[in-house]
Amino acid sequence: MGRISLSQYLIEQERAGAQVPPELGLLIEVVGRACKAISAAVSKGDLEGVLGGAGTQNVQGETQKKLDVISNEILIQANEWGGYLSAMVSEEMEKPYQIPNRYPKGHYLLLFDPLDGSSNIDVNVSVGTIFSVLRCPEGVGDPDESSFLQPGAQQVAAGFAVYGPSTLLVLTVGRGAAGFTLDREVGSFKLTRERIVIPEETSEFAINMSNMRNWRAPIRRYIDECLAGKSGVRERDFNMRWVASMVADVYRILSRGGVFMYPSDLKYKSGRLRLMYEANPMAFIVEQAGGAATDGARRIMDIQPEALHQRVGVVLGSKHEVERIARYHAG
Ligand code: AHG
Ligand code: MN
Ligand code: MN
Repeated sequence: MGRISLSQYLIEQERAGAQVPPELGLLIEVVGRACKAISAAVSKGDLEGVLGGAGTQNVQGETQKKLDVISNEILIQANEWGGYLSAMVSEEMEKPYQIPNRYPKGHYLLLFDPLDGSSNIDVNVSVGTIFSVLRCPEGVGDPDESSFLQPGAQQVAAGFAVYGPSTLLVLTVGRGAAGFTLDREVGSFKLTRERIVIPEETSEFAINMSNMRNWRAPIRRYIDECLAGKSGVRERDFNMRWVASMVADVYRILSRGGVFMYPSDLKYKSGRLRLMYEANPMAFIVEQAGGAATDGARRIMDIQPEALHQRVGVVLGSKHEVERIARYHAG
């Protein structure tokens, strides 16, 4: 028997007790299809002139890469006609994207970071896509910004793709986290990691060390203790990795454990990553894989969002390490 497809996985999850009605199943499959298209676009590189800047800025004042814009377009076009969405939110668009009148509307809200790690595109390092699915609040026909402002704990599904040596899709519908690998010849995602579990103990951390001078005391203490290695309080040596694509860093943690940090600091006072389409979906997946995610003081998924593009400090990964860092913050 061959490996099971994404479609079969979704049906089996529903049968096993997860909430995956057909509308949500279709949504996830279409997002998967869009990720295949983005993967194809990313892999063309210089051959089709998709690298480099688009000459524009997004709402957060970041320069957009051509592939940021292309990926956003792919996700919008793939998802606007299916009848399962009431609106979409993207890192690359200031306001929610309304479903055109010619299409029916549905019960879900889709949020995404179309291309994560865009600083890595031009140097051929892994990038990806992150998405989160919420329910449209009861009785809301024309969702506005406020309809999206739900804590991460209310997500019904979340996932991310990594466009690396192989193209991966990691997904949760609330019954654990699973990993799929794109079989390029067949053109479909095949289940390759049925139940992802993050190792609890770890000796690897991920942080952008160039921000060190701006760190607050708890992060400084945690990293100092890691760097002290065997002769320090942790009594073992630690290793460091920083891909600078959250998708790749988080996938490594889902594979061999570790802790990923982009904390709030003296420069990024409210953190650098975005709560609704980066931190929340990753927190959902990490928790479903037995890990934890905090901003230092609060569980990420309990934070009540106040704005679509709000930023947040992020510490996520192996449970014991994340709990230790949270204790340092509490002290
Ligand atoms: P995006 O490309 O969607 O703006 O996100 C990039 C994020 C994240 O993927 C990564 O962890 C971080 O920015 C990298 O930041 P540095 O450039 O500071 O290392
Ligand atoms: Mn991103
Ligand atoms: Mn992005």
